[in-house]
Amino acid sequence: MKKLDMLYEGKAKKVYRTDNPDLYVVDYKDDATAFNGQKKGTIINKGIVNNNMSAFFFKILEDNGIPTHFEKLLSEREMLVKAVKILPIEVLIRNYAAGSLSKRLGIKEGTKLACTVVEFCYKNDELGDPFINEDHIRAMGLATEEEIRVVKEYSLKINNVLSEYLIKKGIILADFKLEFGKYKDKVVLADEISPDTCRFWDANTMEKLDKDRFRRDMGGVEEAYYEVLKRVTGE
Ligand code: TMP
Ligand code: ASP
Repeated sequence: MKKLDMLYEGKAKKVYRTDNPDLYVVDYKDDATAFNGQKKGTIINKGIVNNNMSAFFFKILEDNGIPTHFEKLLSEREMLVKAVKILPIEVLIRNYAAGSLSKRLGIKEGTKLACTVVEFCYKNDELGDPFINEDHIRAMGLATEEEIRVVKEYSLKINNVLSEYLIKKGIILADFKLEFGKYKDKVVLADEISPDTCRFWDANTMEKLDKDRFRRDMGGVEEAYYEVLKRVTGE
């Protein structure tokens, strides 16, 4: 496999073509942004943490019957993935109130929700990734009925698998964001699962171990990313 030209550069990752049209290389950066790119910074070695943590979670999920884009780790910051076409929706899964949900609905951050809440955003930087519902997805043709059904089914299963795994490591999975892609007509989990895209709280102290430390200028960002990687992978 040969890494070829860059196909796309996002806020946190670069994607490269390879000599195999079915495979891409994802390169995880240390760049951090928040609030739709308004706040910019660097989290030292974040790329290494997010690459390795995502690979670890993708493997667990594959073992539990969830298809993912993950093929294998290539280096500290690079993984080989299937060349998926990303569905233009973000799926947010929430077990505890936090962040934008707390703000919108006036529920105190840290409150356990009576049931898991699934939300969708339209992936569009110009519009600031607005919240949408399933009717918007249908009306705009962002995904088919069957794709919506599979995305929801996988998202809830992923929530169960990851929440159960993490609580054994002393971590509450408060909420997280997923993206899915199409690969050879099948829906597969794509993007990343990391402290950038999840809210991880220490189960004893409720201390934040994720990107909220960067978003809210709390300090100890790098330390929190390493702490979660260590607890999750045992490394
Ligand atoms: P929110 O409370 O800001 O809506 O975020 C919910 C979850 O989604 C949280 O775990 C962080 C994650 N997230 C992303 O991964 N990317 C984003 O652009 C946003 C806004 C949130
Ligand atoms: N990554 C997103 C951005 O820069 C937002 C976030 O994670 O808070 O816009």
